[in-house]
Amino acid sequence: MIDFHSHVMPEVDDGSRSMDMTMDMINNSLEQGVEYICVTPHFITSEHEISHEEYLNRFNSLKSSLGSRINVIQGLEVYINPELPELYKESRIWGYNGKQYMLIELPMQHYPIYTDKIFYELRLLGVIPVLAHPERNLSIMKNPELLINIIEQGNLAQMNSGSLTGLYGTEVKKFAEKLISMNLIHIVGSDGHNNGKRNTDIKDGLERIKTLNSYLYKWISGNEMKIVNGIEVEVPDIISNKKKKSLFDFFRKK
Ligand SMILES: [Fe+2]
Repeated sequence: MIDFHSHVMPEVDDGSRSMDMTMDMINNSLEQGVEYICVTPHFITSEHEISHEEYLNRFNSLKSSLGSRINVIQGLEVYINPELPELYKESRIWGYNGKQYMLIELPMQHYPIYTDKIFYELRLLGVIPVLAHPERNLSIMKNPELLINIIEQGNLAQMNSGSLTGLYGTEVKKFAEKLISMNLIHIVGSDGHNNGKRNTDIKDGLERIKTLNSYLYKWISGNEMKIVNGIEVEVPDIISNKKKKSLFDFFRKK
């Protein structure tokens, strides 16, 4: 099992505050059955940047401290910004395992108008954007078509396991269940920030997906290594409740 979203790298963002805390979080991951954990600190342009060199130094020291207990995978949680294509060209941001799938987050409260354009420009550069926790974005909650469009354009979406267990409240939980039933999610992460309430739990969320949509659960399990290895995946068809108009509907009305 892969945890695609975590803040276990100590002392770089609002995640783990010490190596001790990181060890607690990793022990929790192991108890949850996680074999691979993606180390995805925040990257926020001109506010919270981490250079590739610093990231690699910290990543390698984390990797050697953990030894063979768990596999760590490189990554970032990149905050949306019109400059992302330029930053990618300059190798200042990177995807999972240094390959093309890149975790990108939006502000929680709204959906920036340039999102689709920036994702398109990144795809032209060979990046496959993965939208982080869309179930927590207020605009997408009000208008799921925004997410449907993003996925139809060739991007993927990551869900936080805690969204399905009520960690962020009932509204987010209900919406997360809806996204799962519509096949709108492709990878899952803990988004673990600490060894307390926002730990690296992932198992219960995945179990919930298995119950709600076993087809999607199988798809997620069968494709997670491909995503880490930068192999293209064929996403599941979106299941929409909207009835498609057919010629028969036209004649029925006559
Ligand atoms: Fe995060």
